[in-house]
Amino acid sequence: MARNSGRFSLEAFRHVAFNDIGSTNSECLARARAGDSGLLWVTAARQTAGRGRRGRAWTSEPGNLYASLLLVDPAPIALTASLPLVVAIAVHEAIRAVLPPGDDALQVKWPNDILINRRKTCGILLEGEPVADGKRALAIGIGINIRHMPDSAPYGVTRLVDHGAAVSPDELFAHLFKSMAVTLESWDEGRGTVEIVSRWRKLACGIGERITVNLPDRSIEGIFAGIDDNGLLLLDRGDGQVMPIAAGDVFFARTE
Ligand code: BTN
Repeated sequence: MARNSGRFSLEAFRHVAFNDIGSTNSECLARARAGDSGLLWVTAARQTAGRGRRGRAWTSEPGNLYASLLLVDPAPIALTASLPLVVAIAVHEAIRAVLPPGDDALQVKWPNDILINRRKTCGILLEGEPVADGKRALAIGIGINIRHMPDSAPYGVTRLVDHGAAVSPDELFAHLFKSMAVTLESWDEGRGTVEIVSRWRKLACGIGERITVNLPDRSIEGIFAGIDDNGLLLLDRGDGQVMPIAAGDVFFARTE
C-alpha cells in the first residue's frame, strides 16, 4: 500500500487555547502574517467577534466549540477544491464519536455544514489570504453547537446536547484534533481526492432532491445530482443541463 507524505501526522499539529478572543480565524491569519508555518489549532472558550459565512455574525457563548486550524500551502492550488470536503468528513467523524451509537441522522450538507435530522449543528468557514514568499494561508474555522444554538437563523438549527451528547468543548476538540489529522493525511495534499469524494458522498444529505442554491448574485433551483470528482456540486436544471457549482448556500425543499 502506498504511504502518504506524513506531513499531516498527529504529532505535527500544535494547539493554543484562549479563554476569550475576537475570532479564532482572525488569530490564525494574524499568526500566518507573522510567519507561522501552519498546522496550528487555535481554540477559544468564547469569541467576541465570531463570524460566519456571507458576513454573518457567529454568536459564540461559552459551552460550544470554537476552533480554527491554520494551514499554509496545504496542497497545489489545483487540488485544494476538495479541502472543504475533507474538513466536513473530519468534523462529521468527531461529532459521531460523541453521539449515542446508531444515529444515522448525522449528515453533511454540501459542501461542509453538519446536520442532525436536517438541522445545522456545525458551521465551517474557510478563509484564505496570501502571506510572505508567495505562500497562501488558510484558516479553517469550525463552530459546533453543543449547548447553544442561535434563536433565529435562515435554516433549521440544533445542538448536540439535544441529541444525547452533553460533552465539553475540550472533549469534542480532542476527537476533532485526531480526526482532522487522520483525514488530512488520507487526503494527502490532494492526491487522495478520489477517496475523499467517495467518502463524502456516503455522508451527504439530499442527493436526488430538489434544492435551491443561493449564489452571490442570484438563486437557482434544480435537482441535487451529487458532486463531481473534484467536489463541485452538480445541479440538474431539468433541461438536459447539469451545472457544476463551486460555491453557494444550499437549501432543501424538504426540511424534515
Ligand atoms: C457558517 O456561517 O456556517 C460558518 C460559521 C463558522 C464559525 C466558526 S467558530 C470558529 C471560527 N472563528 C470564526 O470567527 N468563525 C469560525
